[in-house]
Formats: sequence, structure tokens, C-alpha cells
Amino acid sequence: MPTFKTVRGMRDLLPDDADMLTFVMGKARETASLYGYREVITPVIEPYELLSAKSGEEIRQRMFTFKDMGNRTVGLRPEFTSSIARLATTALKTEPKPIRTFSVGSVYRYDEPQRGRYREFFQSDFELIGTSNTEADAEIILLTDRLMRAVGLRNYAFKLGHVGVIRGILSEENVDEKTQNAVLQRMDKKEFDEAFKLIKNNECLSTLRGSLELKTDDVFQTAERIKSHVEGYCKAAESADELKSLLTLLTEGGCPVKSVEPAFARGLEYYTGMIFEVYIPELDIALGGGGRYDKLIELFGGESTPATGVAHGLDRIMLAMQMQNAAPMKERKKRVAVVPVTEALKGEALKVSQLLREAGILVELEVMGRKMNRALEDADRRKVDYAVIVGERELKHNAVVLRNLAKREQNVVEISRLSKTIMS
Ligand code: HAM
Repeated sequence: MPTFKTVRGMRDLLPDDADMLTFVMGKARETASLYGYREVITPVIEPYELLSAKSGEEIRQRMFTFKDMGNRTVGLRPEFTSSIARLATTALKTEPKPIRTFSVGSVYRYDEPQRGRYREFFQSDFELIGTSNTEADAEIILLTDRLMRAVGLRNYAFKLGHVGVIRGILSEENVDEKTQNAVLQRMDKKEFDEAFKLIKNNECLSTLRGSLELKTDDVFQTAERIKSHVEGYCKAAESADELKSLLTLLTEGGCPVKSVEPAFARGLEYYTGMIFEVYIPELDIALGGGGRYDKLIELFGGESTPATGVAHGLDRIMLAMQMQNAAPMKERKKRVAVVPVTEALKGEALKVSQLLREAGILVELEVMGRKMNRALEDADRRKVDYAVIVGERELKHNAVVLRNLAKREQNVVEISRLSKTIMS
């Protein structure tokens, strides 16, 4: 037989990494409950049509798709938002608004594997459905700020933009939606020359080119400059105003934004309003991103329902934590090894183990059938705190030997007092 490896882009998470992922997921869950987002669990496999509608060319091309045995074209979810939009038009249709959902789990994209970029990765996703108000957008950014802080990250910064600025200019100049999407896709990749080649109208082109020059260190000033730059483009100017109100709210909420990007675009096609990403200085890939998508639910056959949301890349957050030495403080549980002195006492050892576990103590039972000395040596090597030695002589008095492996001391302890003694 060959030795098997994981499929390219897929990873095993060994215990330390799995612990870290569980920690980050826990902080995402805690954030969800503090902000009133209720968890929903949706399938990993969804209809291709659902996943591809409005996700954008980039994601469509990188989707894992296949035919199931019923000849349906399906895909592995590349994100959660389309599944939640599906729910908003079906099971959650009559829920009172706003609806706040939280999801966490694996998503799949056929990206080129490299550091921080995998084909299977984990996201925590928050969606706020049913309002177009700016405070909803602020909430999505503030909860992201909370998550970053809760996992111990420092110096992270938000990059903020509004797709309505570029789309507003393009629409006014009668650029069709397909071309608009193509322009934004290229802008997302910073291929500005490629993006501008798609535009025929000279005035439109010079407004777009000019927008690249508007950024300053002062975010309010940048928003103001965008507003004056797009004067005459009604929708684009409205978008610049929205950006300003959002900046004000975020500053009031204690989460100042570090940069406003006039030519900022994101790979996903469904965005209609503000968009944002969060970064740390040590990594040039986003730890999370999101934005407003007011037309997606309608496109899925629901009523016109505005919505906004974010997804956090949990693998990248873990990477960021490692880079900033922000490893979680783990509460170390005491570990106990239970060792029967003879083969015949296996059952008794098992009973004592169960009793300790019921009291919340971590127990590793000797299952290798090793002799006492070997078992104790092994426990020592694995940095177990206590060994409980189950022997005939002590059992007669309902007792066992409790050995503190670090101190190399041992005492006979009654089984009824064993868990208390270990915990003390
Ligand atoms: P996204 O920007 O495509 O947004 O993904 C969110 C985050 O997932 C990224 O910021 C990044 O941290 C992580 N990520 C993306 N691709 C990879 C990869 N190949 N490997 C590791 N991590 C990755 C969305 O998914 C939208 N659904 C966000 C949203 C929710 N917008 C509105 N609601």
C-alpha cells in the first residue's frame, strides 16, 4: 500500500492546533451570544445554483463542484452568506426583523495553497438581516473588533470602503452590470490598468483614475474628498455620505478606522454598500471581511430585504495569534493516570476512573497492560500530575495509593476522599 497524504490544500489539525481552533471558535461563539446572534447550522453541500448566484467569477471558478448520485449539480460551500440568504427566504422568512445569525464551520475554495491560504478553511460568519441603517453596519464591524480583542490580537486595523462609490460612477455612465462586476473584480486584485481598460467613456475613466489619488491619512478627510470628487454622480455621493456616517458611528463606538480606501473592492459580487476588511501589520492577507448586500435575498426570491454581515478567517486569526505570541492562556486541568497493580484489578481500576471522571477529573486509564513501573515511568514522561495505584491491599480498606509524580510522594487515600484530595 502507498503511504497516504492529505489532498493538496487540505490539512490535518493536530491536538495543539485543534485546541487553538476550538479556542478561537469559542471566542466567536461568545461574541455571537454577547451581540444576540443565534447559531444556525447549514449544510456543507448546497445546490451549485445557490452558491454561484452573485458570488462572483472569482469564487465561481474556485468552487468544488460535482454531480451527486441523483445527477444534481452541487458544490461544497465557499462561504456561508448564500446559505443564510436562502434561509431568509424560506425557514426564517416570517421571523421578526432584524434577524441575527451566527455560523461557524469549514468552507472550501480551490485557492492556490500558501501560508494562510488553504482549500479547506474555517470561518465564523455573522449576518444581520432586515435593516439598511448604518448602525447595523457599525455593529458588524464592532463585533469583529471585539473578536480580534478577545483572541488577544494587537494593532489590528480596519480598512473601509463603499462599493456604491465606484458602482455609482459606472452606473451613471451607463456601464452595464457585467462590466461593472469585471471592473470591481480587477480592482479587488489591484489590477487597476486592467480594470480601466474595460471602460470606454473618457470622463468616467478620468473620474475613476482620480479616485485612486484621494486617500489621505485622515479617514474623515478622505471620505470628504471622495464626496467632492464624485459631485454630480448622485448615487456615488450618497455612498460617500454613508461612509462618513459610518465612520462617525464607529469612532463613537470606540473603534476608530485606520484607513478609508476610495478604490477598495472585494471579490464577492453581491455587495451593494459599505465593505471592510481587517488586517494586522505582520500579515498582508485579511483576517476577516464583509459588507452590505441589499439585493441578494430579493434575488433568491424573497421580499426586498437589506442585510449586512462579515466572515472571519479563523485559520488566519490563528496564524496572526502565533505571529503576535497571543497564544491562549489555557487553564491546565490536572491529569491523573490510573494503574491497576495486577491484571485481575482491571475492573476495579475502571471503577475508580469513572468515579474521578464524574467529579470532573481528567483520567487516563492504563490500557497497554504494562507493569506498574513501566506505567509510572510513562506517566512521568507525559507530565501527568498524579498516579492512582489500585492494589489488593488498599482496596480491602476501600482505599488506593495516590502518588504525586512531580513531588515523588505517595499516600494511601480512601476512595471516597480521592477526588477532593486530587482537586485540593
Ligand atoms: P471573504 O472575504 O471571501 O468573505 O472571506 C472572509 C475571510 O475568510 C477572509 O477575510 C479570510 O480571512 C478568510 N479566507 C478566505 N479565503 C481563504 C483561504 N483560501 N484560506 C484561508 N482563509 C481564507 C466572505 O466569505 C463573505 N461571505 C463575508 C460576508 C458575510 N459578507 C457578508 N456577510
